[in-house]
Amino acid sequence: MSNDLLKGKRGIIFGALDDKSIAWAVAEKCHQQGAQLTLTNAPVALRFGKINELAEKLNTIVIPADATSLEDITNLYEESIKHLCGKIDFILHSIGMSLNVRKGKEYTNVNHEWMKKTFDISAISFHKIMQVAYNQDVMNDWGSIVALSYMASQRTFPEYNEMAESKALLESFARSFGFHFGQKNHVRVNTVSQSPTMTTAGSGVKGFDSFYDYADKVSPLGNADAQSCADYCVTLFSDLTRMVTMQNLFHDGGFSMMGMNADALR
Ligand SMILES: NC(=O)c1ccc[n+]([C@@H]2O[C@H](COP(=O)([O-])OP(=O)(O)OC[C@H]3O[C@@H](n4cnc5c(N)ncnc54)[C@H](O)[C@@H]3O)[C@@H](O)[C@H]2O)c1
Repeated sequence: MSNDLLKGKRGIIFGALDDKSIAWAVAEKCHQQGAQLTLTNAPVALRFGKINELAEKLNTIVIPADATSLEDITNLYEESIKHLCGKIDFILHSIGMSLNVRKGKEYTNVNHEWMKKTFDISAISFHKIMQVAYNQDVMNDWGSIVALSYMASQRTFPEYNEMAESKALLESFARSFGFHFGQKNHVRVNTVSQSPTMTTAGSGVKGFDSFYDYADKVSPLGNADAQSCADYCVTLFSDLTRMVTMQNLFHDGGFSMMGMNADALR
């Protein structure tokens, strides 16, 4: 169903790997709502992911960019503006990767060089994409930038490892850059703190199935899936949320406000 909520808007979607990716669902919903898009992912992800299928379906192009490279991001924006014939109204940052999680290192014994790389990919990349957009004047007035987060930024989920600190940093960048972008040209910056979702990045976390089930039982509405996350992102890119900025917005079926739910003990 389309309400043309994004008609006439141009967006860039980072992080669609396959049809389980949250970014994949967001790109599809933005397209349905009338937006024109470009898609991007790390060059390595283009080789083993399915992003080209998505591009074909949405009648657009994929511009490879490692989100830790200022040069790649600059090129991505130049090419996107050329392809979309104008400046950008919205950006989705849907990027996460932990080297220590991937290599099975416990939180109490991480490799700190890998930890720095994790922060660079999962959080500092958000600052980088905003810094280049800010300095190159890429965003239209009243644009919207969203990154996906998880509540381990604020509460302890032991298996989430160094991704917890990555998300804390990510949310802080939204607040700090939200100030500067708001003053510059009314661009808003928010993070969406999403329920556990069955994706490649999600299921890479040890014990993911049990905390997926736990959150599902505790939340009065159950876990929010990728499709509903995409709906929420559409509203944040639309003109209906023009005065919302510098927020970490929970999209989690109520999980973050729960104290106790006996259903989780049964
Ligand atoms: N799945 C969950 O349970 C869950 C919950 C809350 C938040 N999130 C967040 O949602 C976002 C998207 O993750 P997902 O669950 O859809 O998984 P996903 O694996 O489909 O997406 C992660 C993406 O990050 C990309 N990426 C990794 N390194 C990159 C780099 N250097 N440059 C550019 N892109 C790079 C990957 O190629 C991939 O497309 C992440 O920020 C994740 O932390 C996920």
